[in-house]
Amino acid sequence: MTNLHPIHDRTVQRAERETANGHRAGVVWLTGLSGSGKSTIATAVERELFAAGHFVVLLDGDNVRTGLCADLGFSLEDREENIRRIAEVARLFVQAGAQVLCTFVSPTRQIRALARSIIGAEDFMEVYVNTPLATCEARDVKGLYAKARRGEIKGFTGIDSPYEAPEAPDLDLPTANQTVAESAQQLILALRAWNS
Ligand SMILES: Nc1ncnc2c1ncn2[C@@H]1O[C@H](COP(=O)(O)OP(=O)(O)OP(=O)(O)O)[C@@H](O)[C@H]1O
Ligand SMILES: [Mg+2]
Repeated sequence: MTNLHPIHDRTVQRAERETANGHRAGVVWLTGLSGSGKSTIATAVERELFAAGHFVVLLDGDNVRTGLCADLGFSLEDREENIRRIAEVARLFVQAGAQVLCTFVSPTRQIRALARSIIGAEDFMEVYVNTPLATCEARDVKGLYAKARRGEIKGFTGIDSPYEAPEAPDLDLPTANQTVAESAQQLILALRAWNS
C-alpha cells in the first residue's frame, strides 16, 4: 500500500466534470425486497435522465453478480463483500461525474451503512422501495419466492433471511399504491431537489 501514488491532483477534477455535465454527481441507492421494483423504477429513471442529457449509470444486482461479484454467494458475509465492491465502483463513477443508480436488495442497516461510508454521506441518497412482502410474493417476477417457499433457495431475503427496513430513508416509495411512472417521477423530483 505504501508504494501506491494515486494521481488525483493531475486528473480532470470532479467539479470540472459536473460543470461540463450540467448536474452534480452522486449515488441513488435503492433498497427493498426482491420484486419490490428497484430495477423497474431505476430503469425508467435512467431512461428519463439519459434523455435529458445526464451522465447516468445503472448498477444492478443481477448484472454485477454475473461478473464483478460472480465469486460471491448470499451469506451475510458475501452480501457485505458484494456491497463493498459495488460501493467502491459507484464511488469511482461519482468521481467521474456520474449520477449512479444502484439497485440492490442490500437487506441490513449495516450493509447500507457500509455503502454510505464508502461513497460518503453527502453523495448518498437512500431510497426505500417500500413494497410489502405479500405484494412482492404475489408479483414473483422471477419465480424466486415460490422456490424459496419450496426450500429450493436457502437464505432468501424476506423468507428465511432478514430484511431491515430503512429507519430514515431520503425517499420512501410505496409502490403497492403507485404506478411505475409515479414512482419514477417521485424519484426524479427528489433527485432534482437534492441537486439544487
Ligand atoms: N409502482 C411500481 N414500481 C415498481 N414496480 C412495480 C410497480 N408496480 C408494479 N410493479 C411491478 O413489480 C415488479 C418489480 O420487479 P423488479 O424486477 O423491478 O424488482 P427488483 O426490486 O429489482 O427485484 P430484485 O431484487 O429481485 O432484482 C415488476 O414486474 C413491475 O412491473
Ligand atoms: Mg432487480
